[in-house]
Amino acid sequence: MTDQNGPKLLAENVHKAYGRNEVLRGIDMQVRTGEVACIIGPSGGGKSTFLRCINHLEKIDSGRLSVDGELIGYHQRGGKLYEMRDKEVAAQRRSIGMVFQRFNLFPHMTAAENVMAGPVVVRGDNKKKAR
Ligand SMILES: Nc1ncnc2c1ncn2[C@@H]1O[C@H](COP(=O)(O)OP(=O)(O)OP(=O)(O)O)[C@@H](O)[C@H]1O
Ligand SMILES: [Mg+2]
Repeated sequence: MTDQNGPKLLAENVHKAYGRNEVLRGIDMQVRTGEVACIIGPSGGGKSTFLRCINHLEKIDSGRLSVDGELIGYHQRGGKLYEMRDKEVAAQRRSIGMVFQRFNLFPHMTAAENVMAGPVVVRGDNKKKAR
């Protein structure tokens, strides 16, 4: 990914609704490299929805989301956004980690091995680096 000087995560005016339920109403957020950010709010406030939007598990209705300066889920040509193919989205997701709220761990592996599985299986990292 590109643009190491810009923010790691950039959300600009992100909107997301489920039917008439407007969950994200113009979210603006920047997280810089090395920064730790917490999103706090009531149950149903849209925290998980926002996180799912960051790796395009949910499609946003409007606005923009970029990681390392790269638009997530879309290519921009001219003034228009075109959704990426599944394969391209999968490539972006390889560098975005996420622990799900209702996680399913592999019971035959330790907690550390569960966390290491993504980088080792998907990205081919060696186990030492992943650990
Ligand atoms: N797939 C979906 N289809 C329809 N509505 C959804 C879907 N996912 C979430 N919602 C709704 O969007 C709103 C935000 O839910 P979300 O799970 O993002 O909240 P949250 O802040 O993560 O809550 P919690 O603190 O309980 O984890 C809720 O009203 C929820 O019912
Ligand atoms: Mg949640």
